[in-house]
Amino acid sequence: MAENSTTTAGISRSEYTRRRERLMAELPAGSLAIVSSAGEQLRSRDTFFPFRQDSDFLYLTGFDEPEALLVLVPGRAQGEALLFCRERDPEKERWDGPRLGPECAVQQCGLSDAFPIGDLDDILPGLLEGRERVYFPMGRYAHLDRRLRNYLERIAMAPGAGRAPEMVDLDYQLREQRLFKSAQEIRLMAQAAKISAEAHCRAMTRCQPGLYEYQLEAALLHTFVDSGAREIAYPTIVGGGRNALVMHYCSNHAPLRDGDMVLVDAGCEYRGYVADITRTYPVNGVFSGPQRALYDIVLAAQQAAIEQVAVGNHWDHPHAASVETITRGLVDLGLMRGDILGLIESGAYQRFYMHRVGHWLGMDVHDVGDYRVHGAWRQLEAGMVMTIEPGIYIPEDDESIPAEFRGIGIRIEDDVALTHKGPQILSAAAPKTIEDIEYTMLHGRDLLTR
Ligand code: GLY
Ligand code: MN
Ligand code: MN
Repeated sequence: MAENSTTTAGISRSEYTRRRERLMAELPAGSLAIVSSAGEQLRSRDTFFPFRQDSDFLYLTGFDEPEALLVLVPGRAQGEALLFCRERDPEKERWDGPRLGPECAVQQCGLSDAFPIGDLDDILPGLLEGRERVYFPMGRYAHLDRRLRNYLERIAMAPGAGRAPEMVDLDYQLREQRLFKSAQEIRLMAQAAKISAEAHCRAMTRCQPGLYEYQLEAALLHTFVDSGAREIAYPTIVGGGRNALVMHYCSNHAPLRDGDMVLVDAGCEYRGYVADITRTYPVNGVFSGPQRALYDIVLAAQQAAIEQVAVGNHWDHPHAASVETITRGLVDLGLMRGDILGLIESGAYQRFYMHRVGHWLGMDVHDVGDYRVHGAWRQLEAGMVMTIEPGIYIPEDDESIPAEFRGIGIRIEDDVALTHKGPQILSAAAPKTIEDIEYTMLHGRDLLTR
């Protein structure tokens, strides 16, 4: 394999090496880091849920099998990266598919060495001996916690033994590293967003009164799978009418009714990276007056928030811009009364906008990374990717609100990468303005290429 060739995960081998070296450089001399693969999850009897690799493990290895462990040994030159994984087994591979095996894993993942996972008990205690600290994702995998505790007890009880290494959570260093996306990662995220935007487009063109919510879900899934993105980033939300008011709605069983809006929050995972997009549109393809009025406010809030995604601003700037725009818009519309600053300071706007404007995005939908540093909102820097997703949700039983607005929920969500040149909207291909949505819904079937 050529040095810069791309692994099955779409990231070059040299980038995995760089990631491991950067992590090892963060760890003190005399330490060891251990990162485990995910385990297979039994669904019933001999049937498993689809395997999804642990994001930290995938980030550091590109190795997509269960029953594997990465051991990083900082200190010697650039440090050593050792993998324990399943051995080749023609009989098992006949049933469950190919395994890489330790020899090929060394080549493919650019590791220092690899061993059969069955040899862990013979090798790992020796690597732990004499170390001052062992870093690992504490509490994530009970079997790893137990195993390490056993090893460390054995080391401490051995005749003439010194102190066993201290156990330390690895979480912080990896969170920080994963927060800043490389050019290769942004390319994969752009592809996940492109596929997801195309899927939203397809759902829009399929939408009409009388369909069931799950039929729009099917339109989205068709594009995901057809584009080689076989996993969803999170459970798809298709909420018609007041179902849009339920933040984590995903039963998707209700019929879509003429005159209602539908909120669709869906994204795929592509080669380990995800998209997270929401579009809200009228089921019949034409915005009514009240729908248009609320939609205009959410769209303006999203635009105002995206403008605040700038190097040097802090994490709360986009949120604050969205809160201000929504509060002002609702006051102008007569749905809230009072002084705008007062309504913001008292949190009165939260009756209609009860979540924050977004979250980090990457290998996971609510990706790793701290939002505050030493108690203060974090500064935004190039390489960060976040969602910007303001919303307005009008309770259906609030008699103080004119009836035509009640029960409407609107969210608009895009994926935004912060570059040195400013915000780059990865999900821009999903129609978003009222004109584009109405045009797509009217003419969409002719526009669709598949
Ligand atoms: N789809 C999950 C979220 O928007 O945070
Ligand atoms: Mn989101
Ligand atoms: Mn979402």
